[in-house]
Amino acid sequence: MACHRITKRHCITSNTGQSQALEWVLGLSEAPTSKLHLVLCLTLLVLVAICFISLEFRFLGAGPRVSRSGIANSVVQRRDVGERRYLYWGPGIDCPGKYCVQCGGLGHQESSLRCALEEALFLNRTFVLPSTMCIAKEHNNAKLPQLREDQCRLELNRCSMAALYDLVLMSQTVPVIASNSKEWHDIFLRKDTVFVQVEGIKREELKHKEMFRQAHVVNRTANKQAWFMECKNRHNQSAIMLSYSFLQTMVAPPLRAAAELIKEELKDYDALHVRRGDKVKVHKAKSGALRTMYAHLDNDTQPEAILKRIKPWIPAGRTLYIATDERQVHYFDKLFSKYRVMKAKNFSSILDTVVHNNYQLFIVERLVLMGAKTLVNTWKENADDLSLSDETKKKLHRWEHAVNSS
Ligand SMILES: *[C@@H]1O[C@H](CO)[C@@H](O)[C@H](O)[C@H]1NC(C)=O
Ligand SMILES: *[C@@H]1O[C@H](CO)[C@@H](O)[C@H](O)[C@H]1NC(C)=O
Ligand SMILES: *[C@@H]1O[C@H](CO)[C@@H](O)[C@H](O)[C@H]1NC(C)=O
Ligand SMILES: *[C@@H]1O[C@H](CO)[C@@H](O)[C@H](O)[C@H]1NC(C)=O
Ligand SMILES: *[C@@H]1O[C@H](CO)[C@@H](O)[C@H](O)[C@H]1NC(C)=O
Repeated sequence: MACHRITKRHCITSNTGQSQALEWVLGLSEAPTSKLHLVLCLTLLVLVAICFISLEFRFLGAGPRVSRSGIANSVVQRRDVGERRYLYWGPGIDCPGKYCVQCGGLGHQESSLRCALEEALFLNRTFVLPSTMCIAKEHNNAKLPQLREDQCRLELNRCSMAALYDLVLMSQTVPVIASNSKEWHDIFLRKDTVFVQVEGIKREELKHKEMFRQAHVVNRTANKQAWFMECKNRHNQSAIMLSYSFLQTMVAPPLRAAAELIKEELKDYDALHVRRGDKVKVHKAKSGALRTMYAHLDNDTQPEAILKRIKPWIPAGRTLYIATDERQVHYFDKLFSKYRVMKAKNFSSILDTVVHNNYQLFIVERLVLMGAKTLVNTWKENADDLSLSDETKKKLHRWEHAVNSS
């Protein structure tokens, strides 16, 4: 088990006796049946009594340590119910887990973050948001303006969450505090904070069992591969509490302002999102066969193919914003003959001061895409989407690919 006990923290896993042991300590489980249980329970009552008398009591020895007021709160009149409760999934997105070292793309990390936020919403707990997001190296911009300390520290490949998202706005739906905030720091220092460390325990159990409900902090060890693996119920529409577009609309104010300026300049426009980059890559499998994630993508995103495909949807002469990871500057020049083509580069005066990596750039571009009169995506994501390709977007495949690459 990768779950270690530390002072003042309970460690609970689904398949060990520790969970049971702690329930007895808190006196919350069904009446124990064996003699041993009875003895334990009686001993416990005596211990609790001593606890109230001395007010200096602490459990010592082999079992999980429970802080003094932790016991008091659960046995006495739960006078803390109105207090804030926290949910902690780790110091970084997908960490603990594989991605403590490696770094996922923005979509990957957002899937994971959304999953954690959804659980916080479900548990009615404040989510302890990792204060930074890691930025995969290939997504760093080469030419960078001067950075402020509190923004994106590219030398560390990390970007402050506050430089990506609007945490105040987010808190209106799911309360969040940053892991480097004073509030979280104080929780640590307080002697009476009850932490409970859980691993492999379902969210329903976390929500309904008293022992979990009462802990000030639930320290959750999420899936080791990626946090979003905890949200496998996403195909069940009625189980989804946070929409897919939640994080896309929680944009940090400077980025949102940049998107607004761009939209104002574009006025009446249509847009294309053209994913090529890593997605058109071909690599040699062990068998020697060439493999690619999307067999048709390269052909479907050729300029001639695009022109032909979008003709019925976007009349000639329209302003066309193209968000793309294609690195060749002149790749889309053929579209100039029919459209007034604009890309991020045309707005560098707006973007250069606020955008320091491609994650921020895409967060801005997503808002621009959403504002288009007609939007054509690379793949169909919803039934009524317009798309350049008829292939299905391989969400699971992408995840597997990302998770397995080491
Ligand atoms: C959370 O639990 C993990 C073990 O699962 C532990 O390593 C870590 O220190 C704990 N963090 C906090 C904040 O309690
Ligand atoms: C959610 O937690 C807050 C305290 O953080 C509490 O005031 C509120 O009543 C709780 N809501 C529900 C539905 O339990
Ligand atoms: C879908 O989610 C809802 C709400 O959580 C639940 O009641 C229902 O049983 C789930 N359906 C399936 C097929 O899992
Ligand atoms: C892509 O286009 C090339 C040239 O037109 C053609 O030879 C090839 O078969 C196409 N590939 C696919 C997967 O359609
Ligand atoms: C956008 O910038 C390119 C150069 O990067 C330029 O050729 C093009 O004319 C600009 N488009 C508009 C509509 O200004």
